[in-house]
Amino acid sequence: TQNAMWGGRFAAGPDAIMEAINASIGFDRRLYAQDIAGSRAHAAMLAATGIISDKDAEAIREGLLTVLSEIEGGNFAFSTALEDIHMNVEARLKEIIGEPAGRLHTARSRNDQVATDFRLWVRDQCDAAVGGLVALQQALLAQAEAGADWVMPGFTHLQTAQPVTWGHHMLAYVEMTARDIGRFSDARKRMNESPLGAAALAGTGFAINRDMTAKALGFDRPMANSLDAVSDRDFALEFLSASAICAVHLSRLAEELVIWSSAQFRFVTLSDRFSTGSSIMPQKKNPDAAELIRAKIGRVLGAAVALFTVMKGLPLAYSKDMQEDKEQVFDAADTLMLALAAMTGMVSDMTANRANLEKAAASGFSTATDLADWLVREAGLPFRDAHHVTGALVAMAEKKGCDLPDLSIADMTSVHPAITEDVYSVLGVQNSVASRKSFGGTSPDRVREQVAAWKARLG
Ligand code: ARG
Repeated sequence: TQNAMWGGRFAAGPDAIMEAINASIGFDRRLYAQDIAGSRAHAAMLAATGIISDKDAEAIREGLLTVLSEIEGGNFAFSTALEDIHMNVEARLKEIIGEPAGRLHTARSRNDQVATDFRLWVRDQCDAAVGGLVALQQALLAQAEAGADWVMPGFTHLQTAQPVTWGHHMLAYVEMTARDIGRFSDARKRMNESPLGAAALAGTGFAINRDMTAKALGFDRPMANSLDAVSDRDFALEFLSASAICAVHLSRLAEELVIWSSAQFRFVTLSDRFSTGSSIMPQKKNPDAAELIRAKIGRVLGAAVALFTVMKGLPLAYSKDMQEDKEQVFDAADTLMLALAAMTGMVSDMTANRANLEKAAASGFSTATDLADWLVREAGLPFRDAHHVTGALVAMAEKKGCDLPDLSIADMTSVHPAITEDVYSVLGVQNSVASRKSFGGTSPDRVREQVAAWKARLG
């Protein structure tokens, strides 16, 4: 059978395979609320500008509300033959209200319709991502506040580097997620213009009012170029880019949780609520949520690459290739929101093991830099020489199988005569972190200041 929407110039209906490759209703039904909102705004505008009658607009409005409640009540029969959400809604509208339904598509195309629907959907996802990120920040902040002065090893190359504070480490992720929030908010601002009224690609001869539909849908203004309006998906690419960066942050934290919860580290204990067991090894408590966050991030990155690839070769204006935008964005958004929720749960529930953190902080010659700095400050050595002397002391301690503070003063002066008893005051991890008071540094004082600033910011 011929297509009810565009069958006029066709003698035959589509092959089943054509229908299968063409249809998007299997996934774009998720845009139903946005599609109906866009149609309501469009119909109201058509009436206000005298393009359709008030009576028809009212029939359309009521019919659309019925369609909405049918879909939300699960009483709507989606049809693959009707290809996508736009034609499914319109066809049902026609069944309900008859002839006026055919006037809804005046001065509109599915090209501006889908661009509008999808922008509205992605805009909501930006808000959802910000909400999820704020919740995560709050969980991180609570950890930072509790452990502002708990000392732990800071790593480079995953080798002990210098002592840092637990609070400082948690706040690093608060900063990272704050930039993620900035990216989603920025993207939202840029995407908040209305494509509706661009029609197929060239605009329309009807005297429509695009400001009116833009306003009704919460957009800041109509998009200024009809070709651009129907043919770009940079808003989706920006959302995916922001999601990809955010996902990488989540993945790195997930990786740390996997390492930290291992028997070899025992820096944190994850709650039972966010752990799983083993069917064979009774002792196991596995950090599956962290592992899955780390893994699922691949889907988000993949979605970004996929849509960039779809878009990169398309001439203006609309091409059907763009129908491939939705599944990628849907999956990336679902994955990101789930990962954010799981990370927030894990971080709120986890217990940092202070004693283990502090024990680990003191091992691995973590205060060697403090010793070198002491030689610069108190003995007047150039830093390069101080570095060399300290290196020799580390080698000596390693040979003796002890840590730096365990070397005797005789051992110390045998390497450099200017060393005095005072050096021991900088070899403890508490002193080490307390001394790092530079702005942005790890000292408990600085961490407490940052915690207070973030608490004020997050309210
Ligand atoms: N389902 C289509 C999409 O997702 C809607 C736009 C169709 N436009 C067209 N000219 N065939 O992009």
